Amino acid sequence: MNTRLKGLAAVQPSSAAMDHEGRKLLASGAPSGKEPLVVDGAASLAVGTALEECYEFAGLRLSPKRRTLLRDGERVAIGGRALDLLSLLVSQAGNVVSFSDLMRLVWPNVTVEEANVRVQMNILRKILSQWDEASRAINTVPNRGYCFVLPVRHHPNGVVPSSSKVQKHPALPILTNRIVGRDDAIQIIEDALDQSRLVTITGPGGIGKTTVAIATAKRYAEKFQGEIRFVDFSNVTDGAGAAQVISEALHVPTERDVLESLCEHLGVNETLLILDTCEHIVEPVAVLAERLLSHCSNLKLLVTSREALRATGEWIHSLPSLTFPAEGEEIEEKDIAKFSAVTLFIDRVRSSTRFEPCRRDLPKIAEICRKLDGIPLALEFAAARVAELGLREIAARLDDCFSILTRGRRTALPRHRTLAAAFDWSYGLLSQEEQRMLVRLAAFGGSFTAERAITSCAGTACRRTSDVFYSLLDKSFLAVETASEAPMFRLLETTRAYAASVVCSPRRSGRGL
Ligand SMILES: Nc1ncnc2c1ncn2[C@@H]1O[C@H](COP(=O)(O)OP(=O)(O)O)[C@@H](O)[C@H]1O
Ligand SMILES: [Mg+2]
Repeated sequence: MNTRLKGLAAVQPSSAAMDHEGRKLLASGAPSGKEPLVVDGAASLAVGTALEECYEFAGLRLSPKRRTLLRDGERVAIGGRALDLLSLLVSQAGNVVSFSDLMRLVWPNVTVEEANVRVQMNILRKILSQWDEASRAINTVPNRGYCFVLPVRHHPNGVVPSSSKVQKHPALPILTNRIVGRDDAIQIIEDALDQSRLVTITGPGGIGKTTVAIATAKRYAEKFQGEIRFVDFSNVTDGAGAAQVISEALHVPTERDVLESLCEHLGVNETLLILDTCEHIVEPVAVLAERLLSHCSNLKLLVTSREALRATGEWIHSLPSLTFPAEGEEIEEKDIAKFSAVTLFIDRVRSSTRFEPCRRDLPKIAEICRKLDGIPLALEFAAARVAELGLREIAARLDDCFSILTRGRRTALPRHRTLAAAFDWSYGLLSQEEQRMLVRLAAFGGSFTAERAITSCAGTACRRTSDVFYSLLDKSFLAVETASEAPMFRLLETTRAYAASVVCSPRRSGRGL
């Protein structure tokens, strides 16, 4: 990949233009009075001028073709060479630009000393130091060159006047239901996005990863200046396909090398990408994420996957179940809002039928929530059958939850239309060794230590049994309790029921569901 050189070529025309007389004037450090003064996009439209490419950073707007640097619509005094250096560094934000590239492009056809670059760089830094937020924009990289390190927004077609601005983030899916019980998670993930450029939400299927990712991105959009895009990987099968889908979401032309074009686009535009449903391609996505993040300093990734990517710099949030009363715990009407699983279940029942739960219904609802491990998707399935079966019957039949939780939304993803389909998808992604161990662990019933699980499964798996065990943990098939001295593990009730049912009727692979 050679994004750096391509970027350099892109700024060449404006440099070449400086060989004219105006260049001499600008080189003195004074702004050229000959150049048309364009205040901002709105003004340029008013006089019928076409919008032109510009970059925004730290409250400044740089238009390389117009050769202007603006602050609040006012032109900043900057010499031609300093402007050239700035244009080059900004167009390559996040990459190191070498002394030789700077000299070649800013002083074309002239042999100059490295000292000239240093002098101009000092002038440029002095200009930028007028504003706190811009003062540390350029890092010196010893023996290599310089790097522009602030977030940059690239507007290849200029800036549309604010009066005609369109909705800021139209690309995020709309959440049709009220979100229950995730305020803390959303806040934690939002904060994590401030600190880290790669944040992954993990957890079992149906726990709400996608929902929380979208809700977080919506919140984050309130303060984020860049582009936000949602990219669904559920039908993608490899890394090349993943890069292609991202390019399509960003409308990046892909006639050339997809990854190269993508890096070029993401290198200048501040972007948050939500990469949704990565569990079936974690390795290629990990490789792709590392490549993109190392090339594009303005990029942030919010990933959802059953399993973490285990990529450099990844910050992981493991999404817990919604909350429900413990076995035997009393619940009254006033407590409903305290338990998010109960609230969600009642919400969903009410969406299809008139439903006012009375006090004696609450223990049944609590039991349903408990048996379904507080997993929103499973709760939605159960709620959809209340009108027909009633709470008592549902609670009683949940030991065979896969036979009754069969009525998902018609418009849901195929793997979200029945509970069995949701599990088929996840189970189908496991290796045969992992599938065998899961079935074995299902026979345990309650909690167990890692040692017990590994010892009792020895001989059933070809790989080291402990690797298989921890791989199941990584893939969110095991819940872990750390209250006691040694961590205790267990299968979620629904996972246990599924694994037990596999013994009776072997499932087909979930891939492609
Ligand atoms: N906190 C929540 N409040 C309300 N509904 C939720 C919540 N979390 C998930 N859901 C619903 O549960 C279903 C599964 O959620 P989803 O985000 O697709 O799970 P995952 O991405 O983990 O498989 C969706 O229909 C979603 O609307
Ligand atoms: Mg999802």
